[in-house]
Amino acid sequence: MSRREIVEIGHPVLRERAREVTRGQLLSEEVQTLIDDMIETMRAANGAGLAANQVAETVRIAVVEVREGNPRYPYKPPIPLTVIVNPVIEPLDDELAQINEGCLSVPNLRGEVLRHVSIRLRYLDREGAEHEEVKRGLTAGTFQHELDHLDGTLFVDRVTDPRTLTTWDQFERYRRDEFVERARRLVERVGS
Ligand code: NI
Repeated sequence: MSRREIVEIGHPVLRERAREVTRGQLLSEEVQTLIDDMIETMRAANGAGLAANQVAETVRIAVVEVREGNPRYPYKPPIPLTVIVNPVIEPLDDELAQINEGCLSVPNLRGEVLRHVSIRLRYLDREGAEHEEVKRGLTAGTFQHELDHLDGTLFVDRVTDPRTLTTWDQFERYRRDEFVERARRLVERVGS
């Protein structure tokens, strides 16, 4: 396994729609190595997720994991390591929540975006087995963020009020307490 370079906003690959992966491609050594490298790269950067576009590969694969006490996102409920291939999301209802997001490809910036609170997620795992799961709250937001990457969309595109944009330092200083309380209430109400 090796770490890969995470490309940053401005790199055209972040604006491309990644292509579906066939079962044959998925089981190839090349794609299995890519998945291993994405996991290692995400963990090394303390990310909550990483999409293939972010390491300049245009295939519909993302990895998600939140361990207890993640330093970038200490308020997120844990998510076990999940490899999603050809994922599809369907909102379960019309409810939206404002979530404060950041992204490894958008250095030192955070902002408020609207995400569906409850989603059905369908995907293949790295062995090609089909899964269908319901995700809620901040966890649902994390998966929506990663799926956006596979369509060439970044969280900044979804920031409805640019005045909510902050650096990570200024988030800590001026917005963290309010958001963590809002996030806590959302998780308490809807789970993950
Ligand atoms: Ni991101």
